[in-house]
Amino acid sequence: MSPERNGSPPPKKPKVGNEENGGSVAPAENGASAPRGKNQEELQEWIEQRVEVPDGVNEEYYQISPEILDCFPKYVFPIDLYRLKEDIASLVPVYKTGVRVDSGFRAMVYQRCREGLIFVSRMQHGIYTKFISQQPDMVLLDKNLLPTEIAAILMVSLRQALEEFYDQMVGPRLNDLRKVVGILVEYVIQKPERMDAFICTVHELSTIENKSVNVCFAAMALYMRYYGGRINVHTLEKVALGFILHDIGMTRIPKFVTEKERMLNPEERRRVKEHPLEAVEVLRNLDLTEEPHVLPAMQHHERMDGGGYPNRLRGDQISILGRMAAVADSYVAMITERPFSKEKKPLLAAVELLKDQTSYDIRITSLLVKILQEVTC
Ligand SMILES: [Fe+2]
Repeated sequence: MSPERNGSPPPKKPKVGNEENGGSVAPAENGASAPRGKNQEELQEWIEQRVEVPDGVNEEYYQISPEILDCFPKYVFPIDLYRLKEDIASLVPVYKTGVRVDSGFRAMVYQRCREGLIFVSRMQHGIYTKFISQQPDMVLLDKNLLPTEIAAILMVSLRQALEEFYDQMVGPRLNDLRKVVGILVEYVIQKPERMDAFICTVHELSTIENKSVNVCFAAMALYMRYYGGRINVHTLEKVALGFILHDIGMTRIPKFVTEKERMLNPEERRRVKEHPLEAVEVLRNLDLTEEPHVLPAMQHHERMDGGGYPNRLRGDQISILGRMAAVADSYVAMITERPFSKEKKPLLAAVELLKDQTSYDIRITSLLVKILQEVTC
């Protein structure tokens, strides 16, 4: 359980029980009627299944915040709920997904939730993540989520927002993407070390959107470490947006080229190499013209010895944002499976980049190695 959980005392090794061992379903709480509907028998059957909870209950269940519960549909919750019965140190099932609830039952659950007594199973974390990722600002309210869980939720939210934006590059969709980026920034700027957990959150499917989120997380982890506490929230919002849009130029390259599974021919390679230049035009059309927006897109394929593209910049000609984007972009490419090469272990990939000082800034690659040595992915 996260050390940032809410103020209620931690449960003492509770077990999941049923009515026979002292647990009860909703009606016994306050006279409110039980969940009704055709699933009632199913509910009863489910309640009668004993689930023994091991000592480390917090690894398997976590408290749900009232704010999160508040976001659930009013009449059918998307997730099973358990109530802590402190007197018998047990977790008792109180709600099964899909059963319709009435207002009395809902009020009881809300009250118990405010008291810190309602738990959900980490077994259903996938459903929880999917639900919350549609309302990502909830991660700022839920004090019970682990940093890795928040990273997973924001990864899904950012990918969805980026997919929608790349599908239709218009102002409102850009604003939606900005909102999610703003949530990420708000979350990590309070404690820069929070960004470390994001470097372990890698989406493996190599679509442009997935890769862009991966690169954004890695580059932001580097940025936060590089500048430490000297980061301005408005600058970080621009930087984060610039990192996630670093490959926006690829949206101008035909799909038959970007999705080709065989080797590209020389003409196709030439076309792909134009994507940093295409990016500048696309960003300008979106009124994204400030350096943090443009430099990652323009320079993530430049190399320290001048061997990169599109402008063959070298050394100090490449901005720090460009160098970070270059390291993050190559790192993500190495740790995710591609058509012609197998993925590498994160630390091995970072060490390989560290050795390549002709291509990458050693200050950035050594930071990447340091982060990966300190976090457990
Ligand atoms: Fe690129």
